[in-house]
Parts: sequence; C-alpha cells; structure tokens
Amino acid sequence: MKTSNRAPVAIYKRCIPVTKEAGLSLARKELRKLLDMLEVESEMRRAELLTMLDEIGNNIIRHAGNGTICISAYRVGGRVGVRLVAEDRGRGIDDLSKAFSRGFSEDNGLGMGLNLLRSLSDDVRIASLIGGGTYVEAWKWI
Ligand SMILES: Nc1ncnc2c1ncn2[C@@H]1O[C@H](COP(=O)(O)OP(=O)(O)O)[C@@H](O)[C@H]1O
Ligand SMILES: [Mg+2]
Repeated sequence: MKTSNRAPVAIYKRCIPVTKEAGLSLARKELRKLLDMLEVESEMRRAELLTMLDEIGNNIIRHAGNGTICISAYRVGGRVGVRLVAEDRGRGIDDLSKAFSRGFSEDNGLGMGLNLLRSLSDDVRIASLIGGGTYVEAWKWI
C-alpha cells in the first residue's frame, strides 16, 4: 500500500483545564515539557509559543471564565508542528471579523492578544458562536 510520508503523525497530546483559580501555570508547565522533549533550544521560539499559550489562556480566563487548552505536536514529513487549541463555552465573540484587529477589546483590555497570536503563529483559526463558546486553534512549526 502506498503511504504518503507527509501524513501528520501525532507525537504528543495533553489537555489541561484552565480556570480562574488554577490559572495557566499547569498549561505552561506542559508546554515547557513538550518543548524540552522536542529539544527546542531557541529561547525566542520557546517564548513565542509560551506567549501564544498565554494569550489564548488569558482570553479563556478573562472572557469565558473557564475552558480547556490542548497542547499537541505532529511530525509532518521532516518537520514538527506544535498545535495549541483553546476551547470554552463562554459568551462567544460578538464580531469575529474585528477580533484580530489591534486595539479591539470588548472588555477594556489592550485588545492586542489575538493580533499578537496571529503574528506569532504559522496558522490560526477561530470559530465562535455567540452564547455558545469559542474555539481557537494555533499552529507553529518549530
Ligand atoms: N474566549 C473568548 N470568549 C469570548 N470573547 C473572547 C474570547 N477571546 C477573545 N474574545 C473577544 O475578543 C476580543 C479581543 O481579544 P484580545 O485581542 O485578546 O484582546 P483583550 O483580551 O485584551 O480584550 C476580547 O476583548 C473579547 O471581546
Ligand atoms: Mg486577550
């Protein structure tokens, strides 16, 4: 049977609950553990990924109250991609078309988080239903 050597192979996955009380420290710890395992030594790469995690995690805490972050890694051909997925069942994002704009905040925040997330990620997608929750998926090659 012919198999493509570009098919993604899952090499890691952990899902961590995020709540106001527990915060992001466990999720940060899991991400650092993964980056150690993948031997990512660049401080820049590590800081970028931790910042991506902070932005999606802080949005859960601040705008939804609680949710889950899943951290996973895939080998695709000769490369490895890290995937961060944040999910919550909060109030959702009113205007998704504005969400990535610098300075757009519905909550007196700086409104830079999603914009920063997009610039640090190789791919980002958001799905949100008003009153139903929000799904944010961000990928980065390492
Ligand atoms: N998980 C979420 N649930 C509900 N709304 C969200 C969520 N994440 C982001 N938003 C909305 O998108 C806006 C922009 O997010 P962001 O760029 O991180 O700015 P900030 O968090 O500083 O307000 C937020 O003000 C909020 O209205
Ligand atoms: Mg934010």
